[in-house]
Amino acid sequence: MSRALTFLAALTLALPLFNAAAAGEAAKPAIVIANPGTQCIAPPEEMRRDHMEMLKHQRNRTMRLGERGAKVSLNACVDCHASKTTGSVLSGKQSNPDGFCEACHAFAAVKLDCWDCHQPKAGYKAAEATPAPEGSKP
Ligand code: HEC
Ligand code: HEC
Ligand code: HEC
Repeated sequence: MSRALTFLAALTLALPLFNAAAAGEAAKPAIVIANPGTQCIAPPEEMRRDHMEMLKHQRNRTMRLGERGAKVSLNACVDCHASKTTGSVLSGKQSNPDGFCEACHAFAAVKLDCWDCHQPKAGYKAAEATPAPEGSKP
């Protein structure tokens, strides 16, 4: 949680710099909304702050709903947020990650194991495997 707050603080401080003409100095998350005409399951501030909690397998078993009433689904995040050019929420590029999920996580130094089983591309389903129990990750 504190990592998220630190990250948000850093992002807020850095925002004016993003717009500066003299860009291209430090790495920054390139957040591209692939389907701008649609609505996320909650407002962006809430998504930035709470999406990790919403997505947990444990939470999901209780059928948590997003603020706008949608069932929280990783496949749905991917379908809506996958890049129009790569079809993915990951970029696969170490040096310049620009996939929706990966760009921000690279910036915040967050590593996910989700993609071991879940498809980062639109239009797929998770592999047939049992989710690891909560808290069993190293
Ligand atoms: C139907 C399409 C749709 C779905 C499904 C969806 N989103 Fe979104 N998401 C959007 C749009 C559009 C925005 C931009 C909203 C805005 O700026 O008003 C957004 C914004 C966000 C943001 C904030 C990005 C920023 O500007 O910092 C995050 C984080 C996010 N979504 C994560 C998720 C996650 C995680 C899921 C799945 C639980 C998800 N979204 C599901 C359409 C979607
Ligand atoms: C606006 C930036 C941003 C975007 C976009 C974003 N994330 Fe995150 N995400 C974060 C931050 C920051 C954390 C770390 C929070 C913490 O450490 O408490 C995080 C953490 C997570 C976690 C928890 C990781 C863990 O080990 O606890 C999951 C799961 C996650 N994100 C999924 C997604 C998915 C899926 C997408 C794309 C649909 C996405 N995120 C897009 C910023 C973002
Ligand atoms: C060991 C494999 C595995 C890993 C790792 C894993 N999952 Fe899953 N997950 C599954 C399976 C299997 C399902 C049920 C099949 C389905 O609904 O597609 C599922 C279902 C889900 C669902 C509900 C169904 C849907 O449409 O999204 C969410 C949300 C979800 N996982 C989020 C995550 C997140 C976030 C991570 C990473 C922090 C993660 N999972 C890591 C295997 C895994």
